[in-house]
Amino acid sequence: MTQQFDILVIGGGPGGYVAAIRAAQLGFKTACCESNPYADPKGEPRLGGTCLNVGCIPSKALLHTSHLFHEAAHDFAEQGISVGTPKIDVPKMIARKTDIVSKLTAGIKGLFKKNKVTFLAGHGAFVGKSADGWKVAVGKEAVEARQVIIATGSSARHLPDIPVDNQIVCDNIGALDINAVPKKLAIIGAGVIGLEMGSVWKRLGAEVVILEGGADLLPAADIDIAKEAKKILTKQGLDLNFGVRIGAVKASKKGVSIAYTDKDGKAEKLEADRLIVSVGRVPNTEGLNAAAVGLKLNERGMIEVDAHCKTNLSGVWAIGDVVRGPMLAHKAMEEGVMVAEIIAGQAGHCNLDLIPSVIYTTPEIAWIGKTEQQLKTDGIACKIGKIPFMANGRALGIGAPEGFVKMLADARTDRILGVHIIGAGASDLIAEAVTAMEFAGASEDLARICHAHPTLSEVLHEAALACDKRALHF
Ligand code: FAD
Ligand code: NAI
Repeated sequence: MTQQFDILVIGGGPGGYVAAIRAAQLGFKTACCESNPYADPKGEPRLGGTCLNVGCIPSKALLHTSHLFHEAAHDFAEQGISVGTPKIDVPKMIARKTDIVSKLTAGIKGLFKKNKVTFLAGHGAFVGKSADGWKVAVGKEAVEARQVIIATGSSARHLPDIPVDNQIVCDNIGALDINAVPKKLAIIGAGVIGLEMGSVWKRLGAEVVILEGGADLLPAADIDIAKEAKKILTKQGLDLNFGVRIGAVKASKKGVSIAYTDKDGKAEKLEADRLIVSVGRVPNTEGLNAAAVGLKLNERGMIEVDAHCKTNLSGVWAIGDVVRGPMLAHKAMEEGVMVAEIIAGQAGHCNLDLIPSVIYTTPEIAWIGKTEQQLKTDGIACKIGKIPFMANGRALGIGAPEGFVKMLADARTDRILGVHIIGAGASDLIAEAVTAMEFAGASEDLARICHAHPTLSEVLHEAALACDKRALHF
């Protein structure tokens, strides 16, 4: 018999599993289907999507291990600690990462049970309208649901003529499972994955060469942050090359050869043991049978939605990486909650203007709101409060004096318009800026709030004071 649900969520990544849990909390009979190849011990697809299986979580685990290794090798001595030359057991590092992924993905199955979400193993594809909703095939079964939330996420974009085998030529999937430190690692794309994975393997001893097609690093970041990041990452030994055009790529069992032209048009060839291709991601809409039911996609192949993630089909919603906006897990989750609440008649919302961006390099990079260059383009005059971590006692104490906080506040109203951080703990520090901006706070509001001493949060506090030219410690 056809199973009937109030809500069917297609895809169990951060967007989908959060939407399903929130929908069940609101009293809906909810199911979530998932069809990825990452099997759990029962042989069922794991929940958690890209983020938990081959994205955020595994990459941060590897970043942590490689950071510790690098500190032990390079930074312990100046604090009087001698440990000799540290060695890295890469298979053990990978096994630890895999264990974290297993625990977290199993945890989501537990959350489904707790919240009474029905898990359906299988690929979801629209069949057509049902009496009061939609008929969807999940694997070989048919399911009916009054509302459908599409959360099918994204996959790595590949380049023509560069086949990815996830052994020698990797996308994000293979990049997180490299089982030995490559002597030389080539990376195409100096975006978020390129910088994070490049950092992992550089810290563990690989020579890392990054080939970027764009003219400079991180064009979406504030100009000062991008400049500082380039300076610091280059000093760390990442070989960053901009304005390149990739030519023929030839892979063998032993390595890969990459022909390219540099920014001046000079022909170059790079021989490496491995190659990571990290040139962005494409939305997953194949196999959804979208065209047959008239689901509208935009020119980039993403499902077209309005501000509330409503598609052109009644009772069909789409969230996360498969729709417009930043491809970030926390954005997908926010949209999942929003849609479940709107279906329940509540005022769900997701403020796309205030989705924080974080890059987990050392130091971390995080920002929210407008950059200085955007404000200039928009003709908005702003005050700038910029404070280096070097002026902060805690930063010196933990051996992390690099970077700064840059706060931008409206010159007329003092409202905070952007906060840009490169420095230790940026991923956590940015939360205070997001909170202040969600409450339409002014730099004076943050300046008048007591921040614990000695903490890194004092750098943000000083930056707020600096907007009014009254920094106390710089
Ligand atoms: P996904 O996580 O892609 O999940 C979609 C799920 O739907 C998948 O499991 C897929 O198998 C399933 N699916 C697809 N089609 C169907 C179908 N027809 N039927 C059934 N199931 C289907 N973001 C951050 O915020 N912070 C980070 O630190 C971060 N690090 C990242 C590191 C890497 C290496 C990568 C690749 C990404 C990273 N991201 C990070 C991005 C983040 O992973 C994504 O933004 C997030 O996973 C998107 O969530 P989603 O639910 O929209 O889609
Ligand atoms: P990206 O969009 O961050 O960077 C891709 C880079 O590749 C860009 O700099 C682009 O100019 C370059 N590029 C594109 N085509 C090229 C070509 N043919 N030759 C050379 N360079 C080329 O994409 P990335 O790094 O693949 O990551 C995908 C997405 O995953 C990110 O945009 C982000 O949404 C998410 N992510 C988020 C993380 C985080 O939040 N910390 C970490 C990793 C990924």
